[in-house]
Amino acid sequence: MKRLSHIGTAAVVCLCTMPIVVQGLNNGVAKFPALGYNTWNAYQCNIDQDLLITTAQLMKSLGLQAAGYEYVNIDDCWAMKNRSATGELVADTTRFSRGMKNLTSQIHDLGFKAGIYGDSGWFTCAGYPGSFDHEEQDAQTLFEDWGFDYLKYDNCAIPFDDIIRQGIVGKHQRMSSALQNLEETVKPIVFSLCQWGWSQVWLWGATLGHSWRTTGDIGPNWPSLASIINFNSFITQATGYYGRNDLDMLQLGNGGLTFEEAKSHFTAWALMKSPLLIGTNLSAITPDIVEILTNREILAINQDSVEPSSISPFRWGINPDWTSNDSFPAQYWSGPSQNGTVFMLLNTLDEPADMFFNLTESPWIRAGREYSVRDLWSHTDNGTAIRNLTVSAMPPHGVVALLLKDAGNEPDGIYPQCAVWSQCTAENGTLVGGN
Ligand code: GLA
Repeated sequence: MKRLSHIGTAAVVCLCTMPIVVQGLNNGVAKFPALGYNTWNAYQCNIDQDLLITTAQLMKSLGLQAAGYEYVNIDDCWAMKNRSATGELVADTTRFSRGMKNLTSQIHDLGFKAGIYGDSGWFTCAGYPGSFDHEEQDAQTLFEDWGFDYLKYDNCAIPFDDIIRQGIVGKHQRMSSALQNLEETVKPIVFSLCQWGWSQVWLWGATLGHSWRTTGDIGPNWPSLASIINFNSFITQATGYYGRNDLDMLQLGNGGLTFEEAKSHFTAWALMKSPLLIGTNLSAITPDIVEILTNREILAINQDSVEPSSISPFRWGINPDWTSNDSFPAQYWSGPSQNGTVFMLLNTLDEPADMFFNLTESPWIRAGREYSVRDLWSHTDNGTAIRNLTVSAMPPHGVVALLLKDAGNEPDGIYPQCAVWSQCTAENGTLVGGN
């Protein structure tokens, strides 16, 4: 039943100017980051069937579905505390009284896919039954009997060593194998590892699943966002088709973020190719937050069908390059996209700032060319950049997202001969610029 291609590969493709492309668990689903909704951030355990249906309906009426948001995912606390006499998971008989099959059918009828939450240990993080030693049985219940399409799989309540006799990879392999066994008889399932504990999951997550949480639970405040961005800035290469770093749910509209911070949050998550799972009470969401979530130019890069790589820092900015700083992460980022080079500038300071870079600091830019500049937030074409770019008076914790497209050779005779002086050398061997 298992095909070799289902075993994750780290296929490395190098087409000269192309980036390294990492490929995760290719079972035909989750080639691109999941776009959808998750109940945890807004509701924690206060969830029921009606909330899920209302949320799905709001995703339609607010235009989120039309923008590409596809998954409606239930997080923790949906189950009874005890399994059935035959060991099956049981949905809460009050809050999900119509049954999970009924719920997934309704979600499907609204044009969405449905996600559910489980745990690789004895218990979920909120104390409901975990799937350890029940992996095959639970996979059948959740995906064959109930019709879910997506599993978020958490990391709480790990069994003692003399019981599990596995490392962290083996612990997740159990459910990954159970899901693979359903691929042909039922359907391929999106497998989202929630392995936030220290485990270097970015090194092995792609062999078992489609995304992997790299950091602890996000909070609705700038320090939380800054520390997640900082951590993930060092592991961007782990992301590719079918597998990617998961920066945790979107905290837009939950209070605690300024509008500029909310834009930075969405931009960083989208351009780092994280899954984008909305964690906001949609009944109370404001139009400005919907506008952020439906920024189609930024979503298009998150879902790029040709270029799966994350953006990466090319300069840390206020800190020396490669500095790890939870409060002041890297500021200057770029990455390839099918339509040009995407840049993200983050003003990590608590005050307005000007930001400046030479275009060729980014490895995706060609020297001696000029570039048209598209602003992905104002949705305007902002002329042509030659050699460098300055953005003035960026607000505190604000972001700029730009798409630069090659627009031909720069005008002749521009000085200096090299925008970045390093190793700039005349044909006769004279080193120009002194370094
Ligand atoms: C952990 C996860 C969260 C959420 C809760 C539910 O903390 O990281 O995203 O799923 O468990 O209990």
